[in-house]
Amino acid sequence: MEPVVAHSDRRPTLVMGARGSVGRFVIQGLLAEGVPVRASARRLESGQFPDGVEVFAADLTDPASLSPAFEGAGQVFLYAKHEGVGGVVEAARVAGVGRVVLLSSGSVVHPTSAGNAITEKHREVEAAFAAASDVVVVPIRPLVLATNALCWAHQVRAAGSVALYRPDALTAPIHERDVAAVACAALTGASEPVASGLLTGPARISQGDQVAAIGRAVGEPISVEELSRGAAMRWFSQFMEGWEGEAVLRFLDDAAAGNSPATPTVEEVLGRPAIGFDEWALDHAADFR
Ligand SMILES: NC(=O)c1ccc[n+]([C@@H]2O[C@H](COP(=O)([O-])OP(=O)(O)OC[C@H]3O[C@@H](n4cnc5c(N)ncnc54)[C@H](OP(=O)(O)O)[C@@H]3O)[C@@H](O)[C@H]2O)c1
Repeated sequence: MEPVVAHSDRRPTLVMGARGSVGRFVIQGLLAEGVPVRASARRLESGQFPDGVEVFAADLTDPASLSPAFEGAGQVFLYAKHEGVGGVVEAARVAGVGRVVLLSSGSVVHPTSAGNAITEKHREVEAAFAAASDVVVVPIRPLVLATNALCWAHQVRAAGSVALYRPDALTAPIHERDVAAVACAALTGASEPVASGLLTGPARISQGDQVAAIGRAVGEPISVEELSRGAAMRWFSQFMEGWEGEAVLRFLDDAAAGNSPATPTVEEVLGRPAIGFDEWALDHAADFR
């Protein structure tokens, strides 16, 4: 089958972070299109990737590790790692990579997210790539990943309940498969501004209703307890640094103020509606059992 590569570069496509929740679907999507694929992870273990995929060990914070994976690659999908981004841009330029599809964040183009620390780190990574004039860079900009709900899985499994900061906060979480499908479209030809629009799921849903959808998927009701800001900060500090926890709470405050939209970008890029949260919950029911 002729690969669906709309632009002229037929060299292999490297997917970095190919075990990530988005990256693994990027690999699948490209293989389904017949595109020659390379995969990388920081540490390689056997049986990680599908047959027929060329595999490399590569770390975005270690430029020397990038050259073998980048050499001969026409397109690269990678995560927005702030630390060492200058070395990544230079390695891509030296290797002659034609196009980088960067998993960035919708917060970069979402007005009320400006100034949030997580937003600004993504903005700086985008800017570092944008400055490399000989590499085409297409940022992919999801606003809220549905996979954020996986951080409730332990509580659901252990106690059948979830403690939430701002349970009424409305967001439009996007399924990781949709983020990956838009990334694949960008790797095979879709360009800015089409693929770089603000990416969301199809409709807004409160955090409390996300928990209810997970309960329906699992077949057991899940109760919700509301957390104060201080208690939420203590809870997030188990998984992330203080500045990052504060940034997440700010995103939730913003969503509770009604500022987190649902956009038609997925449908505009893919020609089909975005996947809803109910389907995401069904896909992930096993994580919550
Ligand atoms: N959470 C949200 O709502 C949200 C919103 C907007 C944007 N985002 C973006 O989406 C990202 C999360 O995507 P995800 O759910 O697919 O993440 P994930 O499942 O946690 O996977 C992260 C991937 O990044 C790779 N990685 C991390 N550090 C690396 C390094 N130094 N060098 C090379 N690869 C590295 C890991 O590769 P290894 O296999 O080597 O470990 C892993 O495969 C966030 O980091 C953020 O930038 C998130």
